[in-house]
Amino acid sequence: MTYHDVEPLNGVDRYAVVGNPIAHSKSPFIHEAFAQQTGQAMTYERVLAPVDGFDATVKALIKQGYKGLNVTVPFKFEAYKICDSLSARAQSSGAGAVNTLINTNGKVHGDNTDGAGLRRDIEQNLGFSIENKDILILGAGGAAHGVLNSLVGAKQITIANRNLDKALQLATSISNGSACPFESLERPYDLIINATSAGLTDSALPISDAIFSKNTLAYDMMYGRETPFMAQARRNGAQVADGLGMLVEQAAEAFYLWRGVHPDTQPVMDKIRAIAI
Ligand code: ATR
Repeated sequence: MTYHDVEPLNGVDRYAVVGNPIAHSKSPFIHEAFAQQTGQAMTYERVLAPVDGFDATVKALIKQGYKGLNVTVPFKFEAYKICDSLSARAQSSGAGAVNTLINTNGKVHGDNTDGAGLRRDIEQNLGFSIENKDILILGAGGAAHGVLNSLVGAKQITIANRNLDKALQLATSISNGSACPFESLERPYDLIINATSAGLTDSALPISDAIFSKNTLAYDMMYGRETPFMAQARRNGAQVADGLGMLVEQAAEAFYLWRGVHPDTQPVMDKIRAIAI
């Protein structure tokens, strides 16, 4: 039996995203759009879990028969620990983080669709092949960990972080990785991924203009605002993308795990941009 064969309890399967805070999550909008587009009978809600109550919240939702959950900040690491089984990519993501839970008869299976979402956005939506590229990742926290394994095929991956030890640790987890401080970056890269949370506070990173060229794709994993990183990349002629595509693609991958159908992501991305939710 696959996950998709599970019969709904009452005709309409229930799903939710669990986080704290959760009020501004776009996931319900995205999954409702996917459900409508693909004709799936399901509901998708926001659930606020207390900071110290993730485990209890998930157990209660599973008991109520929720078929699947998305997990967001700050619970992705805790989610990894409470699963009965884990997908290979969740296991191999050095992060130990899970963003998608699948309930099969009360057993919880964990997966992580963030890396696949990033890669799909970069390759399919932005038309930029990762293969053999010289990649720079800014940041070495959970966001960087979560997507590192999806960049297989890159020529080399440089990881720069304010805390150099964290960058070194992350770089040693891959065969083609190296680490350095922001200040020693001084040549252009093919792809630069901003995985820091500096943009949340509009903080500029101490990075040189020299890391950007007109052939660079500068990708910020944040969405909903023009970060100082994006502005700097634009000033230096790079192609610039925010993380909205990744958000929608990771959701599409979760939707596929739950429902066995791949939704068309482009109309959903267009709609979010048009109404600026
Ligand atoms: P996430 O799970 O979103 O990655 P995190 O684990 O808190 O969150 O990591 C945030 C990342 O942003 C880290 O790499 C952090 O750098 P440090 O490891 O040195 O703390 C980086 N970061 C956050 N604010 C920053 C700033 N103002 N300048 C530079 N780096 C910053």
